Amino acid sequence: MADKKIIAVMGATGTQGGGLARAILRDRRSNFAVRAITRDVNSDKARELARLGAELVTADIDDPESLKRAFAGAYGAYCVTFYWAHMSPDKELAEAKALAEAAKAAGLKHVIWSTLDDMRKWVPLSDARMPTLLGKYKVPHFDAKGEADHFFRDLGLPVTFLLTSFYWDNFIYFGLGPKQGPDGKLAITLPMGDKRLPGIAAEDIGKCAYGIFKSGRKYIGKTVGIAGGFLTGAQMAESLSNALGQEVRYSEVSPEAYRSFGYPGAEEMGNMFQVKRDFEKQYCGARSIKTARSLNPELQTFDEWLERTKGLFQAQLQPAGVTA
Ligand SMILES: NC(=O)c1ccc[n+]([C@@H]2O[C@H](COP(=O)([O-])OP(=O)(O)OC[C@H]3O[C@@H](n4cnc5c(N)ncnc54)[C@H](OP(=O)(O)O)[C@@H]3O)[C@@H](O)[C@H]2O)c1
Repeated sequence: MADKKIIAVMGATGTQGGGLARAILRDRRSNFAVRAITRDVNSDKARELARLGAELVTADIDDPESLKRAFAGAYGAYCVTFYWAHMSPDKELAEAKALAEAAKAAGLKHVIWSTLDDMRKWVPLSDARMPTLLGKYKVPHFDAKGEADHFFRDLGLPVTFLLTSFYWDNFIYFGLGPKQGPDGKLAITLPMGDKRLPGIAAEDIGKCAYGIFKSGRKYIGKTVGIAGGFLTGAQMAESLSNALGQEVRYSEVSPEAYRSFGYPGAEEMGNMFQVKRDFEKQYCGARSIKTARSLNPELQTFDEWLERTKGLFQAQLQPAGVTA
């Protein structure tokens, strides 16, 4: 244990960091050890990581000194920010800057920055096809992450930029799953037209990140785009129908309609899907299933992921109550 290289993992009790932490901890012959960063070492999720062999360290992404302490003495760090906890791209930029500075202060040998595309390179603010949000963003949670790349680059860090994809888990946990329409039929609703949406089983992101750390210097200074599949709305609906044993339709709406759905973040999600639709070639081209599988041989297809998770969907689809 003492001679293992420590990876400090932000969000270790969450989705991306949790996937990485579990990937390392389950690999009995790993040369790496996990330092799980959490705000609460007593939470059930933190305790479970400790049970699996992780060191627990307390830090808050909004407290730069705590990040420096959490990264000190580590070999590497997995850096991810938590946009949906506050929905402020400016705050996300400050958090990414603090992560980069803490990595520099600790002299880390390898940093993975979980980034996304700055969509403004395809849709500048002057482009009227979608509204500008918060004065200077088109898709705040993408644009801020992409913009933040420079904090890592400017400090000369040994960094790998990890371009992630839409979590298929959003169909379970983000309210995007099949819903009954007025006709009683199930449908997934997306403004993607007939274009392909790169997606991935969220657990596979951390497994790919582990593959990057295991590759030594190979991906330092590189951008690595990963996906588990590139599927159209119609294809995802067909797979859902097969997995759930009942018809799920693809309900295609316009980005304008999607932006007006009214849930928190609907406007930026409408913009996000519109960029993915209108720049399908570039957006898909920045991601590779082949690379993801080379980093993580257990990479799941959408159908394989559905086979594992269909029980969670079915539980959500149970009628809440039957009235006479
Ligand atoms: N949903 C998607 O399809 C998708 C796709 C690509 C990228 N993303 C991006 O993924 C990011 C979120 O990553 P995730 O899904 O892995 O997050 P997550 O599952 O929500 O995990 C968040 C974890 O981070 C920790 N955390 C939250 N606030 C913190 C703070 N102030 N200081 C320190 N730790 C904090 C929490 O741990 P403790 O409570 O233990 O402290 C929590 O367990 C977002 O920025 C999002 O834009 C999402």
